[in-house]
Amino acid sequence: MRTLNEAFETFRRASRSLEHRYRLLEKKIERLNQELSEKNRLMERTRRLAAMGEMAAKIAHEIRNPLASIEIFASILVRELEGSDKKRLALSISKGVKRLDNLLTNMLVFARAPKPALARIDVRDVIEEVVQMVSSSLDEPVRIRCEYRRDTVIMADESLLRQVVHNLLINAVDSVRGKNGEIEIITERATNGRDALRLMIRDNGDGIPEDVMDRIFDPFFTTKQRGTGLGLCIVDSIVKSHRGKVWVESAVGRGTTFYVEIPSSIDKEVEG
Ligand SMILES: Nc1ncnc2c1ncn2[C@@H]1O[C@H](COP(=O)(O)OP(=O)(O)O)[C@@H](O)[C@H]1O
Ligand SMILES: [Mg+2]
Repeated sequence: MRTLNEAFETFRRASRSLEHRYRLLEKKIERLNQELSEKNRLMERTRRLAAMGEMAAKIAHEIRNPLASIEIFASILVRELEGSDKKRLALSISKGVKRLDNLLTNMLVFARAPKPALARIDVRDVIEEVVQMVSSSLDEPVRIRCEYRRDTVIMADESLLRQVVHNLLINAVDSVRGKNGEIEIITERATNGRDALRLMIRDNGDGIPEDVMDRIFDPFFTTKQRGTGLGLCIVDSIVKSHRGKVWVESAVGRGTTFYVEIPSSIDKEVEG
């Protein structure tokens, strides 16, 4: 009798502990299920974002071609209207087109992570070209001084680098609006461990307040009425794709300096 009772007791205990473990298992399965559906949701989102990126890239390419023709015609008009007060109108077409083109380039880089096609390029040529382009569509005088200290040849993707210089210079120009702007672009060779090219773009504009500073590289962050907030985020991703770095110093009311450092050669190990 006693042994039977003992047996029952043991059985009850075993069954209780089994039941307990069963509950635990049930909870674990529930948690795993939740995790799984969250992962599925994220995967679906990533797939959709990738598809949207592809689509944005296609649309951007489609818009680009007619835009290029408009820009060519506008610049012919600008030349033909030299001396006439209608030149201003042609200039504003050309300026608008350039703005759109820059927006498209930024969107393209944003939609697909930049994959630099490296070649030996002279950063000096890139800077001169960008300065020339930006100067031609300024609507107030801004002094832009360039200084090249030592060798300016590096391995980089020319069109991506052009976009970096362009985005930084446009920001500098925006910051000095209405205050007798002076901008300096300086390159030098940095040799802290690895050979690199350092690019500095300095303006005497508004400066960046501390609470804004944390967010300037975030996509879509802008303090401008007509800003896109893509410029610096693109600069950052392009520079990173070249294994370089970008940083900034700024004093409110005095101006801002952006620094970009790009290693002079990054072998073939660069991936997107
Ligand atoms: N040289 C600069 N001087 C002052 N503020 C700047 C400068 N460059 C960037 N910023 C700040 O960083 C923000 C983000 O810049 P960006 O990503 O290029 O976007 P956007 O130019 O469209 O606003 C700007 O809105 C501005 O507040
Ligand atoms: Mg900008």
